[in-house]
Amino acid sequence: MSDEVDVGREPIKFAYWVPNVSGGLVVSRIEQRTDWSYDYNRRLAVLAENNGFDYALSQVRYTASYGAAYQHESTGFSLALLLATERLKVIAAIHPGLWHPGVLAKFIATADQITGGRAAVNVVSGWFKDEFTKLGEPWLEHDERYRRSEEFIRYLREIWTDDHAEFRGDFYRLHDFDLKPKPVTALDRPHPEIFQGGNSTAARAMAGRVSDWYFSNGRDLDGVSEQIAEVNAEAARQGRRVRFGLNGFLIARDTEAEAREVLREIIAKADREAVEGFGSAVRQAGRSTSDGKGMWQDSEFADLVQYNDGFRTGLVGTPEQIAERIVAYRRRGVDLILLGFLHYLEDVEYFGRRILPLVRELEADAAERGELVRGVS
Ligand SMILES: Cc1cc2nc3c(=O)[nH]c(=O)nc-3n(C[C@H](O)[C@H](O)[C@H](O)COP(=O)(O)O)c2cc1C
Repeated sequence: MSDEVDVGREPIKFAYWVPNVSGGLVVSRIEQRTDWSYDYNRRLAVLAENNGFDYALSQVRYTASYGAAYQHESTGFSLALLLATERLKVIAAIHPGLWHPGVLAKFIATADQITGGRAAVNVVSGWFKDEFTKLGEPWLEHDERYRRSEEFIRYLREIWTDDHAEFRGDFYRLHDFDLKPKPVTALDRPHPEIFQGGNSTAARAMAGRVSDWYFSNGRDLDGVSEQIAEVNAEAARQGRRVRFGLNGFLIARDTEAEAREVLREIIAKADREAVEGFGSAVRQAGRSTSDGKGMWQDSEFADLVQYNDGFRTGLVGTPEQIAERIVAYRRRGVDLILLGFLHYLEDVEYFGRRILPLVRELEADAAERGELVRGVS
């Protein structure tokens, strides 16, 4: 059990991908009753917070690509969802290359004040070159994008916590900037939480140094442990703690055969051209670096039909099978599971009613046996 880590007694948390771009979470022509409109998303957010979800993650995409013809902007959409809910924390995805940290810090501080401390950000360094080109912005080489993201995160934190933020970096400058009001502060949250996407070597190092949360693309148990070990090693050198979120596409049905049939149909009806276009665009990510490590490094066609490798997490089956698998990831040190679904409204309700209670039971049993408080060995 050498891969199991000390995860304390905190229950695992859940987030869902906000369907704020059209086409749903799979690039497939299978029927999807998910809708990207605000009305649908407002209902979904309320349903999700009443079915055990702590977080929602909005996506940032500025222009049509690979099965997502329409997109709502992430920060504005996140604020709207915060206003429609009472407890849900909404994480807005943002690109450092397209925001000044002072301007984003101000927007998030306002959202945070209005909503009693429920705003968060997901710093994504980008894979979609066309998007930057079409916006007339330069497209930096992979590791330079991470150097910029790290600077961005350091400055964001400084602006949120310091009355005289001052910096002269390679990418941003600020002079004696005093943000008022600051975001809401709490003991466990000195400022809005900072998540990051990206699994390359540069992404892992950045997480260890500056991020509060690291998101992994869909992975099996060992693939997750490998990332956790690497990020934790860097975090330990810095005297920090980083939390882990894992992406997974969840297909639960009363029988395993039904669930597997849904997965088979999603892949059989994949929009081949869109998936292949996406597959070649994401070569701009970790694959373009010298060690070739990162998201989509070894994704096959079927994996890419869920564009964040969500099938690889293996959350397909009966409620019991899925609950067992979620707790197995918890043992490996995963703090949060980020979920995508085919028919969101129906599937989120099924998750809350059938799967979540089983997860909590298994966690309680495991904690009783001392299994979820194992030391790193
Ligand atoms: C959970 C998660 C969410 C992401 N959301 C977005 C997004 O909304 N928009 C975007 O352009 N990229 C998004 N990304 C992709 C990142 O921008 C980045 O290109 C990708 O993580 C590849 O990083 P790597 O080369 O370090 O592996 C996301 C990544 C993860 C893990």
